[in-house]
Amino acid sequence: MKTQSVQIQRHGGPEVMQVVEIEVPEPGPNQLRVKQHAAGVNFIDIYYRSGQYQAPLPHGLGMEGAGEVEAVGSGVTGFKPGDRVAYSSGPLGAYGGAYVLNADRVVKLPKSIGFEQAAAMMLKGLTVQYLFRQTYRLQGNETILFHAAAGGVGLIACQWARALGVKLIGTVSSPEKAALARGHGAWAVIDYTKEDVVGRVLELTGGAKVPVVYDGVGKDTWESSLDCLQPRALMVSFGSSSGPVTGVNLGILSQKGSLYVTRPTLVTHLTPRGRFEDSAKELFHMVESGKIKIDVTRRYRLDEAARAHEDLASRRTTGSGVMIP
Ligand SMILES: NC(=O)c1ccc[n+]([C@@H]2O[C@H](COP(=O)([O-])OP(=O)(O)OC[C@H]3O[C@@H](n4cnc5c(N)ncnc54)[C@H](OP(=O)(O)O)[C@@H]3O)[C@@H](O)[C@H]2O)c1
Repeated sequence: MKTQSVQIQRHGGPEVMQVVEIEVPEPGPNQLRVKQHAAGVNFIDIYYRSGQYQAPLPHGLGMEGAGEVEAVGSGVTGFKPGDRVAYSSGPLGAYGGAYVLNADRVVKLPKSIGFEQAAAMMLKGLTVQYLFRQTYRLQGNETILFHAAAGGVGLIACQWARALGVKLIGTVSSPEKAALARGHGAWAVIDYTKEDVVGRVLELTGGAKVPVVYDGVGKDTWESSLDCLQPRALMVSFGSSSGPVTGVNLGILSQKGSLYVTRPTLVTHLTPRGRFEDSAKELFHMVESGKIKIDVTRRYRLDEAARAHEDLASRRTTGSGVMIP
């Protein structure tokens, strides 16, 4: 069968994305073919488009979405045509009308969660799950620092922290974003384009600093993040919306207090299958119980992929965007 798909022939700006008709293969062993209802728009899609992350060209974009199973490959158990499903880490190509992926990357979607909502939350919500429940397991009495708190990952993090009883200090770049982060559960906010982040964290914590910083901004916040940490605390550098952190001299970790650092990624947290299922279950429970609401703030057609990327990179957006094939 054929479908419309957003593809790139070369790396570059948003203009390199083109909608083309592609042949979608039948699902192979242990694979599913899904009719896509919505795909998530994520910063990682920008990294693959620009060449910061590399895959053999030409290729599609997007790795998150939700839809209905259309065809089931040999050896697949637990899925049948018509099942409502969602996925966070498929192969590049989720910006399109149909998608073939390994069944072990797919979970069934509860009836109460819509396709758009699912596409907006799988990658971002499962990321918050592993950050808060696996990388540094929050207990409920901590004060933490979370950068870009009004973004797609950020607004989920604010709500998850509130549900756990954690005081989340969120950074943002405008008063509107500050109000939004607060409204979603941030305990305090810092405008990191105007305020001294380290000074404010010291003030807010009575000089104690924080046991963990979750930093998806990267280059611009790396050093000040380290200065917000208590001795022997953990720096979680999980993204690079301002550019990647490079050229680190490990000595900085001893100078700033025997710090630990990790650069985690979601895909490592989706195996074995039981770990993925447990994480998805916890995320779905948070959403179904009303503790986390998913903000789908932008919807794009496939031929608007360039605008979707420009918007996300522009720093103007809040919450999550989705592509509707
Ligand atoms: N490692 C993982 O497993 C994993 C998984 C998912 C996402 N991530 C990472 O998490 C981060 C957030 O992802 P998201 O999709 O939810 O994006 P997002 O937070 O909605 O958008 C990125 C935000 O980063 C902030 N930012 C700071 N400096 C920036 C700059 N120079 N250019 C652009 N934005 C800048 C902006 O917020 P302000 O305007 O408030 O500064 C912007 O809105 C990304 O770095 C992404 O790569 C990592």
